[in-house]
Amino acid sequence: MKNLPLHIAFIMDGNGRWAKNQGKPRSAGHREGLTAAKRIVKAASDIGIKYITLYAFSTENWKRTEDEVAFLMNLISRHLRKEMDFYVKNRIRVVHSGDFSALPDSVKYEITSVTEATAGFKGTAVNLAINYGGRDEIIRAVNRIYDKSPEKRSPVTEQEISENLDCADFPDPDLIVRSAGERRLSNFLLWQCAYAEFYYSDKLWPDWDKSDLDAAVSSYRNRNRKFGGLNE
Ligand code: IPE
Ligand code: IPE
Ligand code: MG
Repeated sequence: MKNLPLHIAFIMDGNGRWAKNQGKPRSAGHREGLTAAKRIVKAASDIGIKYITLYAFSTENWKRTEDEVAFLMNLISRHLRKEMDFYVKNRIRVVHSGDFSALPDSVKYEITSVTEATAGFKGTAVNLAINYGGRDEIIRAVNRIYDKSPEKRSPVTEQEISENLDCADFPDPDLIVRSAGERRLSNFLLWQCAYAEFYYSDKLWPDWDKSDLDAAVSSYRNRNRKFGGLNE
């Protein structure tokens, strides 16, 4: 397929509304949302998308109730343990973005296991954004630059920041997809979004399937990207 996005980043939104519509607790929506995430990763990898980022938990999501946060952390660590085979079988390289240091030990352990076990895979790469915030990432990148050269006097460059982001080997996202009718970034990939295309859908994330991914990709393929130039 021509003009496929190299990197698609998903803001998976609407789990809570999905659960409410079904008369279920929010946790049921998160569980279903994770199933949708796996479905979309498989579908995207099958059509040849090389890089996928999934926004799973933001630096602001700690504001939710203690129960919801605990449920989400538990769900994430159980998913990583249970789906290790899925990632290995599909030769998917898993990486993590976000502030690792503040995650519960169980989540840290599972992230480390899956990223190490899949590090050598050359197929699709999946970046799990967990405890991720765009501003937090930029600040950590700048601090990394100074940690590496404490004597540094020269001005920080754009390239240095890019190279010190959490997932420096990923290209900038070509397409940002957000479900559930919201039209905002919510602190996602602020640096990397400079020239991203956006696709919004009213469908709640747990209802997403391959046809929704196809619609997002086909919308992207009709865009005229100019990067500030004159690409008529
Ligand atoms: C997205 O669904 C998942 C996370 C933010 C963890 P929400 O939980 O935000 O669902 P809504 O927005 O309440 O419907
Ligand atoms: C963004 O969704 C974060 C994730 C999808 C993980 P939110 O539901 O937290 O965003 P807001 O609060 O509606 O902006
Ligand atoms: Mg939401």
